[in-house]
Amino acid sequence: MSEPVLTISGLNVDYGTGTDAVHALRDIDLTLHRGEVLGLAGESGSGKSTLAYAVTRLLSPPGVITGGEVHYHRRDGQALDLLALSAPELRAFRWQELSIVFQGAMNSLNPVHTVHSQLTDVLQAHRPEMKKSERTARAEELLRLVGISADRLGAYPHQLSGGMRQRVMIAMALALEPEIVIMDEPTTALDVVMQRQILRQLVKLREELGFSVVFITHDISLLIEFSDRIAIMYGGRIVEEAGAADIYRDPRHPYSDGLLHSFPALHGPRRELSGIPGSPPHLSAMPAGCAFHPRCAKKVEACDSHVPVLAAPDGSDGSRSVACWLHRGAPAPAVARS
Ligand SMILES: Nc1ncnc2c1ncn2[C@@H]1O[C@H](COP(=O)(O)OP(=O)(O)OP(=O)(O)O)[C@@H](O)[C@H]1O
Ligand SMILES: [Mg+2]
Repeated sequence: MSEPVLTISGLNVDYGTGTDAVHALRDIDLTLHRGEVLGLAGESGSGKSTLAYAVTRLLSPPGVITGGEVHYHRRDGQALDLLALSAPELRAFRWQELSIVFQGAMNSLNPVHTVHSQLTDVLQAHRPEMKKSERTARAEELLRLVGISADRLGAYPHQLSGGMRQRVMIAMALALEPEIVIMDEPTTALDVVMQRQILRQLVKLREELGFSVVFITHDISLLIEFSDRIAIMYGGRIVEEAGAADIYRDPRHPYSDGLLHSFPALHGPRRELSGIPGSPPHLSAMPAGCAFHPRCAKKVEACDSHVPVLAAPDGSDGSRSVACWLHRGAPAPAVARS
């Protein structure tokens, strides 16, 4: 595996403070390696967007980071502590080193400005040394990169299809050649054919340009197809993390297994679609122990009282991790009750 470009350790996020606080993220450990596509999956409310906002320091009140560390690793070996960056440092960091395409972002293009002006604005703000003609040439190049003909540069957002607007957002995210691109459900509003077309293009661009991607979606079948590794979230925690093929062939967490049976796979053997009974927990009423235990058909004695930590399953080679008592010896007395 290549070197890490982003490391998240022990990250905790609450919404609200004091007695009103609810825990949205708990003990998140996650590493993004250079050049990889890391998929982040989980049902609605599992904390995927919160994680994207916290890591990029875009979390707004009542969201608060209450613990943990996030480091960005430069190519020269220097590590930047993202949670310690000042506002000007953050401005320089975002777009240039890391860019994010938000959930529903295609509707956030400014309706009264052309694609040309929106793409060149990003360049003007961060590359003041570029001449006007160079900015236009770069905007044309960016459009071509995402498969849109350069003659659409003068179009207004409403003159483009949803898929094209989404591609413009991706072009904008790539404008300054960042090392990391975080995409939060960038294609959910699009039909499946368009979703796959955009993702295929993104993976190709990643190969050409060498950036890393965190791709967030609730549709695990998309991730199986397009990501190198997948992390699965439930109730604000990562419950399993493994190579995409390992998750597909041999999911270890009963929740991962349930998710895989909730979406039809485009390739490979057909699976029966059974879904997951029940619904995800509310943050204000998180079950004790493993948050998934009330919905889990395989629950054992420890599950309703002890939180399983994310670790390599017993007897494995360490290339994957799972937070589930089925794959661990009996809980030690030192494990805290939640
Ligand atoms: N501003 C907020 N104030 C209070 N709670 C919030 C806030 N934003 C999110 N939450 C809660 O945090 C939890 C995680 O939300 P988040 O948006 O990160 O989930 P998600 O996995 O991205 O879901 P989706 O798939 O629906 O986008 C949810 O229970 C949500 O209700
Ligand atoms: Mg979300």
